[in-house]
Amino acid sequence: MGKVILTGDRPTGKLHVGHYVGSLKRRVELQNSGEYKDIYIMIADAQALTDNAGNPEKVRSNISEVALDYMSCGLDPEKSVLFVQSYVSELTELTFYYSNLVTVSRLKRNPTVKSEIKLRGFNTSIPVGFFTYPISQAADITAFKATTVPVGEDQLPMIEQAREIVRSFNSTYDEVLVEPDVLLPDNQACMRLPGIDGKAKMSKSLGNCIYLSDDPEDIRKKVMNMFTDPNHIRVQDPGSLEGNTVFIYLDAFCRDEMFAEYLPEYSSLQELKDHYTRGGLGDVKVKKFLYSVLMEELSPIQAKRKELEKDIPAVMEILHKGSIRAKETAAQTLSEVKRAMKIEYFD
Ligand code: TRP
Repeated sequence: MGKVILTGDRPTGKLHVGHYVGSLKRRVELQNSGEYKDIYIMIADAQALTDNAGNPEKVRSNISEVALDYMSCGLDPEKSVLFVQSYVSELTELTFYYSNLVTVSRLKRNPTVKSEIKLRGFNTSIPVGFFTYPISQAADITAFKATTVPVGEDQLPMIEQAREIVRSFNSTYDEVLVEPDVLLPDNQACMRLPGIDGKAKMSKSLGNCIYLSDDPEDIRKKVMNMFTDPNHIRVQDPGSLEGNTVFIYLDAFCRDEMFAEYLPEYSSLQELKDHYTRGGLGDVKVKKFLYSVLMEELSPIQAKRKELEKDIPAVMEILHKGSIRAKETAAQTLSEVKRAMKIEYFD
């Protein structure tokens, strides 16, 4: 049996550079490696609704935005199945059966759920659908018998929970489900790209994101406003790299070859860092370099997006076709699941 990828994103906004280095870029590499039998990339609208129940318009309007982000980054519908979660109703059915295998206390212990509840200020008014979304995420993964789930570090507890559900299902009923492995970014900076304000994570609500589709001029402004070392006041002062957002972004985006074109006085990121910590290198110079580095990566993506934006119905048609294909696969797994649970009465 070949390897299968399933991963996805919630359509609650356009995708940002954190998504890009943390996951999107890797997906494209995996897609093009030829090592995977099937690749499913899901726009998780049903999951997005678990904490946006009152705002379906937001979710709806971001379906094509996320699809545009996907395809402009190089996800190719000829090689990867791009689909919309809610179209695949089998996923909801699987979620219902899996929920019998998970305890409330186990869900309460899920670190991602815990921190998201805090972040959203749900306190005691947690929507049940939100609370149980790790189960629905296990359904997403197992419906496609995914072996490999490329995600950011924050999703680790989700994959762990999915693995537990698989083990529980297979031992309770029959060996139907496949235990997935997580695939994390290999670069520390890519794993957790902070917001431009240096806060832990890029997030729409904090307004600290650089979006893939931001205007170059907006990107320039955001880079120039980035948080650096607050004690690095005069150029001659020694600067610190610790928690310095500009250098974290360089770790994620800069390749040493880029110096020749944009900052030829240096030949490597290490050299630039050494100068900064020694003193004598101003933030503005480093920020200008970072802007060039970012645009080198983002310009081709933005150009492709402009092309794709001209025909949104074609983008939606790609999602429709992908969703039909995804539904077929999920239906097959669901029927195996029901047979294993001995509830396939009329086949
Ligand atoms: N929770 C993921 C996110 O917030 C999206 C997602 C839904 C997902 N189902 C998934 C990711 C299954 C990987 C596998 O971005």
